Amino acid sequence: MKMNFIDLPQMISASGSMTLPGSKSISNRALLLAALAEGETQLRALLDSDDTARMREALAVLGVTMLAAGEGNSPPFPSCGGVPRRGGVVEGCPEGVGWLQVTGCAGRFPVQQAELFLGNAGTAFRSLAAVLAFAGGEYVLKGVPRMHERPIGDLVDALKACGASINFLENEGFPPLLIRPAVIRPDSVVKIRGDVSSQFLSGLLMALPLTGTQTTVEVEGELISKPYVDMTLNLMARFGVTVEREGWRAFSVPAGACYRSPGVYQVEGDASSASYFLALGAIGASAERPVRVEGVGKNAIQGDVRFADALAAMGATVETGENWISAARPAAGKPLTGIHLDCNHIPDAAMTLAVAALFAQGETTLTNIGSWRVKETDRIAAMATELRKLNVRVEEGVDFLKIAPPDVTHPLKPAVIDTYDDHRMAMCFSLASFGVPLRIRDPGCVAKTFPDYFDRFKAIARPAPVIAIDGPTASGKGAVSARVARSLGFHYLDSGALYRLTALAARKAGVDWTDEASVAAIAARLDVVFHADGVRLNGEEVGEAIRNEEISSGASKVAALPAVREALLFRQRTFHRAPGLVGDGRDMGSVVFPGAQLKVFLTASPAVRAERRFRQLLERNEPAEPDAIQADLEARDARDRTRPVAPLRQEPDALLLGTDHLGINEAVATVLGWFSARN
Ligand code: DC
Repeated sequence: MKMNFIDLPQMISASGSMTLPGSKSISNRALLLAALAEGETQLRALLDSDDTARMREALAVLGVTMLAAGEGNSPPFPSCGGVPRRGGVVEGCPEGVGWLQVTGCAGRFPVQQAELFLGNAGTAFRSLAAVLAFAGGEYVLKGVPRMHERPIGDLVDALKACGASINFLENEGFPPLLIRPAVIRPDSVVKIRGDVSSQFLSGLLMALPLTGTQTTVEVEGELISKPYVDMTLNLMARFGVTVEREGWRAFSVPAGACYRSPGVYQVEGDASSASYFLALGAIGASAERPVRVEGVGKNAIQGDVRFADALAAMGATVETGENWISAARPAAGKPLTGIHLDCNHIPDAAMTLAVAALFAQGETTLTNIGSWRVKETDRIAAMATELRKLNVRVEEGVDFLKIAPPDVTHPLKPAVIDTYDDHRMAMCFSLASFGVPLRIRDPGCVAKTFPDYFDRFKAIARPAPVIAIDGPTASGKGAVSARVARSLGFHYLDSGALYRLTALAARKAGVDWTDEASVAAIAARLDVVFHADGVRLNGEEVGEAIRNEEISSGASKVAALPAVREALLFRQRTFHRAPGLVGDGRDMGSVVFPGAQLKVFLTASPAVRAERRFRQLLERNEPAEPDAIQADLEARDARDRTRPVAPLRQEPDALLLGTDHLGINEAVATVLGWFSARN
């Protein structure tokens, strides 16, 4: 079954360098301009993600020839003999050094009639709609349902003012679109709204050289996301078309402008993708070992590099080089501080600030973010909803968010975070793991711009340590685990207690222990509080009740039900918090905490374990008969060892600790010794 969630434990520090994937915004613009240009263009370090795949597929349908490094007649990659794969990224070469050779079609696509599917790629949809309006053919442009909810009417109006012929196929003002050949109006002066999406202006500007005539564009309303328009102008200039502008209000494309290949074009690393790692540094890295992103720096043309300034304004230690930026916590042990920021210039990276705000002192207010509402999802609503699940106090306005960091009265709480098919929601919320363990649903949505995001995240962020201690019943692992936890100051998870509590809760609810769906529903809703002297179930002290022989046997039965194990998985993982955890059970090292720093398999012979259990029962004045105890214990062992899901067994990387001849102090000392050797 495909895992449709990722569980993140609490992180305690961050450090290291990472090479950024190519910028999505630059990649899609460069692909389109290279396709429209005269001549061959070699695009280097192009992003390989869903959004760029949609653009490349569309260009391929339009008849544009694109060869990845080493494919066909394209020149072999000079410095390595790697194997090309989708998108021209060359496996076996350093990241980002692949290329794509694009044969430009000099303004006229070879295929003049086509239907294009552009998924949820806004950059691809808006710019292709504009360009195809003047490309002389007949085209249908479609996307996923969310794309059909994202407005495009203002762009279409502006294109029509230049003579384009475009119809809305479903709802007025929204995709899908039918585009027919335009009847160009020479020397037009067209108006376009600047306050919905800057992609409208960018798309229009990139398309205008195809009209052959001089056109002036006047922006109505405040132009949002100006740096993206600047990036568009920068790329157009690299491809031979200079746009004259008067401030941010009027832009003029000269008659006879046409795109020419610059030969080679190197795509910058993605500055929006950089924001997550820079934030990781600001939250969790020391100045000696900062987090450093490679691929963008001082001369970047992406507006989102200004995110680094926002982090610096929060007090983070930020440094910028030619082609890198690094971030670490504030100097002198100071905390980050909340900020009040107009985010017009960094609309995408500003989302990262909303989560970084959880680690700052004082409130953070992000204003002028109205465009969030028409992105992959309504990002203001989504951000507020999901932050509230973590117990964060959020105030939401039409175009602002105010976030109060957690405090003793409002501590962060573990939660299951929904991502709304929005890559940035998934990436932003990964940062919250510095405060609390959490589950992120549909983490695969990051493929839109950053397919291996979570692998890179794990390479930079370090989780709280875990010691996983598994073993059969009455092996002494409970006592050893609790003592190890106490001596390290770590949290302690008695996972068996959760199965025992489930069995008890089912019994109280009159549910049979074999009724998998009903027992799993009970497990998912368990109202449990572990406290210093025991455990409460629905407010009732049950520390003793879950230890009797009947419930022990019930626990072993419900523990064999896969749906019950699934229902308890995230609850167990929420114990994985700073400064560390000792988890005791049967599948700590194999299923619940497979990445544990230390795995111990703690066991003893059946006779010794039966003897221990016999003495325990005598102490509690419960009736006991040694042979029956051993038989019962062996039956339970057999059930735990042979069940199909998460059977009890020694993991290959677990250290064996036999306690037949070992007192508890020696067992504890052994585990502590192993752990300190690993650290
Ligand atoms: O460790 P214990 O005896 O309290 O566990 C009670 C039951 O729960 C036991 O039959 C095994 C089962 N269990 C499990 O299947 N997986 C765990 N991680 C912990 C306990």
